[in-house]
This record gives sequence, structure tokens and C-alpha cells, in this order.
Amino acid sequence: MKAKLAVSALLIGQGYSNFLPALPHDLNKTTWAFWDYQQSSLAVLPGQFNRSAFDAPWDGNSSDIEVKAVYESLNSTQFVAYDNKFFDIIGSAAAVEHIQALAHQSHEAACYIPDLHKLFFVEWGPPGGNNGTHPWQYMLDVNTNTLSKVQTDPPTINAHGCVYFQGSMYIITDGTDGETGYLAKVDPITLKRETLLNNYYGQPFAGFNDLDIDSDGNFYLTDSKSGWARDIVPYTPPTNPSTYFVNATTMRPKVIQTTTGNCNGVAVSESGSIRTVYLPNTGVSEFKPVSKKNPYGQREIWAYDFSAPAPVLTNPRLLNNPISYFYDGIRVSRNGWIFAGAGDGVDVIDPVTGLTLGTIRVGGGDNLAVTVAFGEHEIWIVGRGGVWHVSNVKETLARTW
Ligand SMILES: *[C@@H]1O[C@H](CO)[C@@H](O)[C@H](O)[C@H]1NC(C)=O
Ligand SMILES: *[C@@H]1O[C@H](CO)[C@@H](O)[C@H](O)[C@H]1NC(C)=O
Ligand SMILES: *[C@@H]1O[C@H](CO)[C@@H](O)[C@H](O)[C@H]1NC(C)=O
Ligand SMILES: *[C@@H]1O[C@H](CO)[C@@H](O)[C@H](O)[C@H]1NC(C)=O
Ligand SMILES: *[C@@H]1O[C@H](CO)[C@@H](O)[C@H](O)[C@H]1NC(C)=O
Ligand SMILES: *[C@@H]1O[C@H](CO)[C@@H](O)[C@H](O)[C@H]1NC(C)=O
Repeated sequence: MKAKLAVSALLIGQGYSNFLPALPHDLNKTTWAFWDYQQSSLAVLPGQFNRSAFDAPWDGNSSDIEVKAVYESLNSTQFVAYDNKFFDIIGSAAAVEHIQALAHQSHEAACYIPDLHKLFFVEWGPPGGNNGTHPWQYMLDVNTNTLSKVQTDPPTINAHGCVYFQGSMYIITDGTDGETGYLAKVDPITLKRETLLNNYYGQPFAGFNDLDIDSDGNFYLTDSKSGWARDIVPYTPPTNPSTYFVNATTMRPKVIQTTTGNCNGVAVSESGSIRTVYLPNTGVSEFKPVSKKNPYGQREIWAYDFSAPAPVLTNPRLLNNPISYFYDGIRVSRNGWIFAGAGDGVDVIDPVTGLTLGTIRVGGGDNLAVTVAFGEHEIWIVGRGGVWHVSNVKETLARTW
């Protein structure tokens, strides 16, 4: 009870409702909300209610007029906190702006190149281009908000993930007709491409989905069935979806995780010499024989210890299921917070408790957050509907490597 009073004392503010507690006074009441079980009546909703696992809480149904009004107000926010920690991570000066309105199809592989003030990203999957097959990518000049289509030399087809590391863009692809997925290094200025890895002892990859790179330059590549499932590549996946570790010194690939669900995002976190690998599982997205989101498929995010020097993942633990939708692209900020594209917005997840601390929203409706790239105190979110910029984030986001 004491703790509760202490927290309430900090929260001087407007329109306390039974359902949403007051916000810290320095937060913009128009753009923020706090869904808090401790200081509100949210633990017991009146009337009839229902929500699918794919809809955001504020897209849920309710027979109660007040609950409906709360949902409506939540749907006009930019930030929904579920935890006090979220206020400190985002801060009161942050704002979300929809800076590029593009088609409602997946935009991913966001890679921020700080020296050039440019954001690289791709449009992935049908119906774009030649049935979703692209020999081009996007480059956004973030100073002028000018968007261009670029082509690497030689052209890279169906890029799906990107990480900027020590002056280069590292890109993975799904492959295309006559070419299976590979890992490549691209010079962001000349756009010259060098292919680094395209096989696992002669076995083609199913189609890479995403990658991350640790401070030693080692690669973590997720090989997924999504390219096949969406007819982006004609090849049947040779194995179950798998995560590969590629040693930067030897370029020798090794499987570190497999699933009968699906691989998708990947992020590596470092704290001193301790490495943690985060992997969401997206078996929930089924495409064949019928395209559907199956709520009984996997939607979890798992954390693993990376047992150096052996490239083996140990101590697997289920961090969480998203409050809604599924986790797509994930990135870890400098101090270890996990940022995950999760449908209606980007969820910020506590790496130890797995609790969802809050959501950075992209406007609701058909907009959908797929993945993020960090600047020092800013975030670019790419997804269905284009690009969003989150400015003036309090936390330092870009990592040190
Ligand atoms: C709060 O956010 C709204 C919507 O973005 C904006 O119009 C308003 O100026 C902001 N208020 C303050 C005090 O910054
Ligand atoms: C919630 O909605 C789903 C989909 O319409 C339905 O299958 C389910 O029975 C509903 N649950 C409740 C408790 O009404
Ligand atoms: C919400 O209500 C609408 C309209 O009554 C209905 O079509 C839909 O199935 C409901 N969804 C859930 C999850 O109950
Ligand atoms: C796109 O798909 C349609 C329908 O499957 C097919 O008729 C057409 O040839 C395809 N176009 C290209 C460029 O692959
Ligand atoms: C990468 O390979 C080098 C050379 O064999 C080895 O010393 C190092 O421990 C390996 N790193 C990992 C993380 O496996
Ligand atoms: C939420 O807001 C968006 C944008 O205004 C709108 O398109 C969508 O229909 C709203 N969702 C609900 C459930 O009202």
C-alpha cells in the first residue's frame, strides 16, 4: 500500500478515470496513456469483452460504454505505457511522426548509416515489383526526408535484412529464381556488393529473414520459410527454419537453433563479456496451403545465453508472448532494452522479466510496425504504411559497435 501511495504521489495530473491512471505531469496527455493494472480497475472489466490475439488491446470489443471510450482514446495515442520504466526510457520530449507514407505492404531491413544520415530499407514481398521480386532498395536521406530507389552493384534481389557495422551494410537475401539466399557486404557510398556466404556445406539456405552482428563481427542469421511461403523463391525449404552462427574469423557457418515454427528477427545483446541472443518465433504466420494467422502457432520471444567461445545457445527461456500480434524485427538498445515490431506498434521489452514496458504506436488502422533502426536518441520504424520517425528519445539507443 505504501509503495502504491508513493507512486500515486508522483502522478499528479488530469482526468483520473477508473480505467487509466493519471500520467506523470510532464507527459503530453494527447499522445500518451498508461495501461496500469496496479492503479486502475483494469483487472476487472465490466460487461462482455473479447479480443483476438492479433488485435491491439484498443481494437478489442466491449459492451461497456466507458471501456469503449478508453479504447478509443488509446487508439489516438503515440505511446502506451504498461510500466513506469517506459516513461524513463522514452522521456517526455519524444514524438512519433509518419515521415513516409508508402504502400501497406512489408517494409523491412532498416539500416541507419549515421555518417551519411541515410536510412536503407526494403519493400518486401508481393504485391510490389515483379510479384514481390525487387532488384532495388530504398534509401532515405533523413535530413531532407528525400526517398530514392537504389541498386547495388551488382544488383541485390530480395534483400530482407540489414545491419550497419563498421562502415558497411551487411545484407541478407531470400534469393530469387536461379539464386538462393546469401549474406553480402555492401559499401553504403559506392553500393558495391561483395557476397560473403551463400551455402551451408553445399546446401542452399531456405531464404534468410534477418541478421544481427556482435561486437566481434560474428553473424547471427535467421533462415526462414517465409520466402518460399510467399512465393518469393521457388525452392522448397531444405530444412526446418534455423538460426546460423557465422564466425567472423573463419566464415564457418553452424546451426545454433532450429524450430518447426518459423524464424524471423534476431538480436544480440552484450553486457561485458556476456552475450545474450533473442529470437522470436513466428510459426503463427501460415501461408500454405492456406494463408492465415493461426493463433495456436508460436508467437514467443526466447532469450538464450551464448556460451563463448563455443557457438552454442544455452539456458533457453521464454521471455514473453506479445500482448498482441507477433514479434517481427527486433533490436536491442545500448542498455539492453528489446525493441520489437509487434503489429500496432513497437513493443519495448524488459530483457530480464520479459515484461512489455510499453508500445510506440504507428497510428492504428492498417499501419503495422515491422522493424526498427536506431540513431543515438531517435528511432526509425519501417513497416506496412511506410516509415515513422521517433524523435528525442531519452534513452541512448545506438549501441557502441
Ligand atoms: C501534445 O501533442 C499534440 C499532438 O501531437 C500536439 O498537438 C500538442 O501541441 C502537444 N502538446 C504539448 C504541450 O506539447
Ligand atoms: C471471442 O471471439 C472469437 C472470435 O470471434 C470467438 O471464437 C470466441 O468464442 C470469443 N470468445 C468469447 C469469450 O466470447
Ligand atoms: C467484435 O465485434 C464484432 C461486431 O459485433 C464481431 O464481428 C467480432 O467478431 C467481434 N470480435 C471478437 C474478437 O469478439
Ligand atoms: C506475376 O504473377 C502472375 C500471376 O501468377 C503471372 O501471370 C505473371 O506472369 C507474374 N509476373 C511476373 C513478372 O513474374
Ligand atoms: C571463431 O573462430 C576463431 C578461430 O578459430 C576462434 O578463436 C573463436 O573462438 C571463434 N569464435 C566463436 C565465438 O566461436
Ligand atoms: C484507430 O485509429 C485509426 C486511425 O485513425 C483508424 O484507422 C482505426 O480504424 C481505429 N481503430 C479502431 C478500432 O477504432
